[in-house]
Amino acid sequence: MLQRSLAKSSSTSRSPPERLFLDYSTLKHFHMGCAAASGSLFLLRGVWMLRASPQLQQRWVRVAPHLVDTLLLASALILAGWSGQYPFVQGWLTAKVLALLGYIVLGTIALKRGRTRAIRAGALVGALGLFGYIVAVALTRQPLPFLA
Ligand code: HEM
Repeated sequence: MLQRSLAKSSSTSRSPPERLFLDYSTLKHFHMGCAAASGSLFLLRGVWMLRASPQLQQRWVRVAPHLVDTLLLASALILAGWSGQYPFVQGWLTAKVLALLGYIVLGTIALKRGRTRAIRAGALVGALGLFGYIVAVALTRQPLPFLA
């Protein structure tokens, strides 16, 4: 059953297996939930950074984003494998991965490395813009979603 499903998934890039130990659709919704949690946690930390809030130092605030981002990436990789859609093969997934790298870099500047508040605020806006772009690419499956 598992082998049949995997054989089916690799035969075409748009026919994910219907059922493994975990349903494709369930995993996609899990991935979307992780994306929403990741973006919300980043926004919350960004607001606390702008206010120089001590809330940022709470233990769960330092741990939860890493956990959520790990699950987001793990589910992304499994979805890509199951559906036979890969970065540097499908343009929209290439765009997502490159934008994700930019989001990570700008996010680090916004929350940690930015020397002044203005630099941090600018990086925060840029990172949130890239996050919105990633969601738009995911929903349209187009690297240029606003022209689609
Ligand atoms: C901040 C990072 C990310 C966000 C916000 C995000 C968001 C989303 C969303 C909203 C969907 C659902 C689209 C729909 O309605 O069908 C989705 C699906 C998907 N994402 Fe991501 N994603 C992220 C990272 C990644 C990465 C890095 C990869 C690449 C390996 C990836 C691979 C996929 C795949 C393969 C699907 C399923 C497409 C389908 O079969 O419909 N995601 N993502």
